[in-house]
Amino acid sequence: MKLMIINGPNLNLLGKREPEVYGNTTFEDYFKTLQKKFPQIELEYYQSNIEGELIGKIQEVGFGYDGIILNAAAYTHTSVGIGDAVKAVETPVIEVHISNTHQREEYRHVSYISPGAKGVILGFGLQSYELAIQSFLG
Ligand code: DQA
Repeated sequence: MKLMIINGPNLNLLGKREPEVYGNTTFEDYFKTLQKKFPQIELEYYQSNIEGELIGKIQEVGFGYDGIILNAAAYTHTSVGIGDAVKAVETPVIEVHISNTHQREEYRHVSYISPGAKGVILGFGLQSYELAIQSFLG
């Protein structure tokens, strides 16, 4: 089982960025926790602040990996291109968010990712990623 976690813009600042919303843990530290929790899964992680690079990574892994766990961050609410990439690939994509975007500003209530996603998990803090991984274990 090979899964790719893809994080979008500003998620490289987890741990420092608005800790009251996103917590105090860096993604690198959390990723190590995930690797320990799921030793049977080949887990990879990619982050970019650039829309085209995120599309490139979705295309690159989207015909070979068993799953993509995608937090497109702010691009969730703006990017037709990332939404189209999610629809274009064969690999199932789970959309995740750390915060409950529906409790926040109205512009965060829209997702261009959800129509192409297999499922959506949001509002559980970093645990959203773990729940997404579990969904592949059935
Ligand atoms: C986010 C929610 C988005 O609205 C925001 O732009 C982010 C992070 C989340 O994980 O809660 O950067 O995707």
